Amino acid sequence: MANMKDIARIAGVSLGTVSHVLNDSAGVREPLRQRVLQAVQAAGYQPSQLARALRRDKTNMIGMIIPDITNPFFPAVVRGAEDVAFSNGYRLILCNTDNDHSKELVHLNELRTYLPAGLIVIPSNFSDLTAQAESYRRAGTGVVCIDRLPKNWSGDSVTADNEAGAYHAIRSLIQMGHTKLAAISGPLHLTNAKDRFAGFKRALREAKLHLAPEYAQETTFDKQGGYLKTNILLRLIPRPTAIFAGNDLIALGALLAIRDAGLRCPEDVSIMGFDDLDLADTTNPSLSSVSQSGYQLGTSAARILLDRLEGDKSPAKHLILETSLKLRNSTGAPPNDVRSSPAVNLTSSTKPNRKRAVR
Ligand code: RIB
Repeated sequence: MANMKDIARIAGVSLGTVSHVLNDSAGVREPLRQRVLQAVQAAGYQPSQLARALRRDKTNMIGMIIPDITNPFFPAVVRGAEDVAFSNGYRLILCNTDNDHSKELVHLNELRTYLPAGLIVIPSNFSDLTAQAESYRRAGTGVVCIDRLPKNWSGDSVTADNEAGAYHAIRSLIQMGHTKLAAISGPLHLTNAKDRFAGFKRALREAKLHLAPEYAQETTFDKQGGYLKTNILLRLIPRPTAIFAGNDLIALGALLAIRDAGLRCPEDVSIMGFDDLDLADTTNPSLSSVSQSGYQLGTSAARILLDRLEGDKSPAKHLILETSLKLRNSTGAPPNDVRSSPAVNLTSSTKPNRKRAVR
């Protein structure tokens, strides 16, 4: 395989000139630069990334850590980061944590040995990256957290506007006439789940609708959790007429539970999701959902990292990306027999009002 000495010989220049051209590190007159580049092409020379890394104490690799590679939300996030990284000469090393903080720490420790130029991290459950990120920062490696933030995070971050997105979605359900709204949140120790639930509660508070404790369920961000918690909600009296799911996978489980209970969506129960995954168009009924751009999460994070690599020393950036509401067929007016009834304040009685017939 050709090396730099071969390039120098073919181009008829010094080894130093070849090095300057390959590293773009000093002004080389254009004719000489062209001779070196032509020699590189003719010899099929591939600079050794390992040698370059050892010289620079940095590779052109960006580590990306995601919590659940089986969640269809994350491929778009990775794709966004990879598109920006690749077009700027960087490559991605993708690591999956299965939402397990101990696995996350294994990845963080091992990635260090690859001398990454930067890290993009979607934290796992109960993640605390403060110490890790600080040691990376001291090594000159930028760390950006996206989607949900670890405890005490003070570094660069990019998230969706989870609270506002949920708030506007719940207001649209209330405007349809719903007064008995339940929520199946993701794990509330995660900031994205917590903020979505906060938006749900703000919309109810503003509409002076009480939230019975039973109407607030919490689960994992997956279909199984949505199915199980929806079955609990469907057995309550009075039954909620609308369920806000913390993400589209929870919403998918809710749709299945409603079907298996012999009920109809939205005629008996409306379902609202969050993410607006491609599946939202294909479910039956199609899923109303809060749309957030995973792709933009990824591109924004990679761009922040590249700015840091270019020497951006400005204070930590906290980008909050707008969401939009996609109303489809899984939401509609509440059932007729409920529409006229006032919101039942379950919190004022230990037992739900059993007088009301439940269809
Ligand atoms: O990781 C679970 C959820 O977090 C995803 O579905 C998406 O909503 C992200 O914000």
